[in-house]
Amino acid sequence: MNDTFLKACRGEETDYTPIWMMRQAGRYLPDYQKVRGKVTFLELCKNPELCVEVTLQPIDILGMDAAILFSDILILMEAMGSKLEFHEGKGPIFPETIRNQADLDKLIIPDADEATGFVMETIRLLRKELKVPLIGFAGAPFTCATYMIEGGSSKVFWETKKMMFTAPELFHGLMQKITDATILYLQAQARAGAQALQIFDSWAGVLAPCDFEVYALPYVQKIIAELKQFDLPIIYFANNGATLLEQSATSGADVLGLDWRINIGDAAKRVPNHSLQGNIDPFALLLPEEQLRKRVGAILDDAKDAKGHIFNLGHGIHQFTPPEQAKIAVDAVHELSGK
Ligand code: CP3
Repeated sequence: MNDTFLKACRGEETDYTPIWMMRQAGRYLPDYQKVRGKVTFLELCKNPELCVEVTLQPIDILGMDAAILFSDILILMEAMGSKLEFHEGKGPIFPETIRNQADLDKLIIPDADEATGFVMETIRLLRKELKVPLIGFAGAPFTCATYMIEGGSSKVFWETKKMMFTAPELFHGLMQKITDATILYLQAQARAGAQALQIFDSWAGVLAPCDFEVYALPYVQKIIAELKQFDLPIIYFANNGATLLEQSATSGADVLGLDWRINIGDAAKRVPNHSLQGNIDPFALLLPEEQLRKRVGAILDDAKDAKGHIFNLGHGIHQFTPPEQAKIAVDAVHELSGK
């Protein structure tokens, strides 16, 4: 069992720096596309055998030090009663948006083992196969709320911020409901065998620090507080969150995920009590080999004073990234950090 990733999360000595990549199971891998060619994305997410297959691909092909459960943060929103569709090339769509109290009242807080049993089954099956730790995950309430309110992806978050600022009780009601569902969902993942849990806050960076403090962070804190009993590392990734770093450090997470917009050495100085995960620009994987290795080396060097370091991308791997380039980065992290 390779537990280097878990040690780095806890800030313990490791023989080398572990690496995994956000969205490491996905369309950039021809092997993933082969599986995906036979089923829709949602069918894939609900088929434990296929989820196991695609979760294992980046471990076998690229040599990652951790696996992340193949699923999607929006699977929980669907289980709460929001109709969810994925349109090719367009991303997720919620045709029935949450805009008033009646919409909110229709949402349920599901029993995670019943409503998302396929996720728990995937975790149980994976634990039998894996020789590296398994990361479970959920979306942070703010990020999930934006999809439910906007009806899909957004650039300006007009409807979300309109609700925050003109109907705060409704907004907080939605956040609390998502929080309650997420606690049950992540607790079930921990019981099923997840060995670390990551909370993805992809859109936290669109908030002013004073609004992050009131409308987003308290709900992340509530979720993490309810996971402490399981004694597994919690990773909080607030994308575009360099301006929110000290606040994120109060989330209760053991590890803070960093996007590429901040120097990881500067981050280590600002949050010395947290292990850090990140943070190469996903597009820098396109650099010529020697330059890519240099970039990796610089990040490893900058991160040397962090409490612990898990190498990762600053966001998900882009679908057109050549897998060979990802492999160069994995090998460089291992070699340059002492494997
Ligand atoms: O990291 C992994 O390998 C595990 C699987 C995983 C997926 N989505 C698979 C996926 C994880 C951890 C996620 C998280 C997720 N999903 C987030 C948070 C992280 C982030 O990227 O900010 C968000 C915001 C979503 C919602 C979502 N799902 C979007 C916006 C999209 C469309 C994106 C796109 O590139 O088209 C998805 C679809 C999705 N989720 C795919 C995968 C592999 C592509 C689906 C396909 O095969 O067509």
